[in-house]
Amino acid sequence: MSVTFEISPNPSPRTDAEVAELVKDPGFGRYFTDHMAQIAWTKGQGWHSAKIVPYGPIALDPSAAVLHYGQEIFEGMKAYRHEDDSVWLFRPERNARRFQTSAARLMLPELPTDLFVDAARELVSIDARYVPPAAGEHSLYLRPFMIASEAFLGVRAAEEVTFYVIASPVGPYFAQGVTGVDIWVTDRWARAGIGGTGAAKCGGNYAASLIAQYEGYEHGCNQVMFIEASEKDRVEELGGMNVFLVGANGELVTPALTGTILDGITRDSILTVGESLGLKPEQRRLSASEVFSGIADGTFVEAFCCGTAAVISPISGFVTDKGEYRPQGQGFATTLQIRNAVLDVQYGRTPDEYGWLQ
Ligand code: COI
Repeated sequence: MSVTFEISPNPSPRTDAEVAELVKDPGFGRYFTDHMAQIAWTKGQGWHSAKIVPYGPIALDPSAAVLHYGQEIFEGMKAYRHEDDSVWLFRPERNARRFQTSAARLMLPELPTDLFVDAARELVSIDARYVPPAAGEHSLYLRPFMIASEAFLGVRAAEEVTFYVIASPVGPYFAQGVTGVDIWVTDRWARAGIGGTGAAKCGGNYAASLIAQYEGYEHGCNQVMFIEASEKDRVEELGGMNVFLVGANGELVTPALTGTILDGITRDSILTVGESLGLKPEQRRLSASEVFSGIADGTFVEAFCCGTAAVISPISGFVTDKGEYRPQGQGFATTLQIRNAVLDVQYGRTPDEYGWLQ
């Protein structure tokens, strides 16, 4: 399905000097580019009115279903500038497919993969000056999202929906950079349950994770790790990212996709890259007690979290109300090796043997 985007240029875009200045130290998700992509969907008509419009507030009827029932999904992906100034998306079709899975769970319409990717490409192309220079680890973060925009208060699947893509030049997700984050572990709050929306990328999952994240802040932690609600000891994922443990014998262990955690694209890339690096990827049930005892007896020597936004960030320790468990591996060596291998592909510093860049 090929669509032509009607383009309404922003009448007052930032100057080149302003853009060059803000991409130097963008932080995460603070600044947005001059435009956004938008496609409407109406029951009976399908997807229509594809546009690139100036970035700005969205007019929504106060009765729009998304504001009341949270019928919403989103994605996170990045565009990278290479040394030769070319700009690339990383595995955008995977994001498109996950977006379709999330849509199905939230009773939203399926957006065809090529429309999803074309919308991202159109936006990156018109706002290419916001893709930070290749030096450093900055990129242009793309946030596709779909909302139930129909004005109607009955609880049913919306018959009018809007898809958008916005873009934000970004640096590291964690303000302190790649120095190791402490993770608060909780079974008091659940992020998702069996049959719930844990595998979908929907706003509600993130809203529900906040209370635990703030509990983590109170304990000096940057993030929270959830334990599956009904089993009480099964490690799930963090508030907005997947988790890995590195074993003393090169095992690379991450919780299996059970329907309650997100099928992370960085997670999947790490499993592939890890194998090429000679590590032994394992997707399996991982209990919190195994994590804690494994760290204590040296079976697990490193841990890290990963996601499009977080990239790959070493975990310095897991903190519980009963004690702290700090992996004893020196200098996050394996974590950084995997991190560099993934970033080298993303930034075109190594041949893309996996065909991930587009
Ligand atoms: C991402 O990694 O892209 C995410 O969506 C996580 C987040 C910042 C909520």
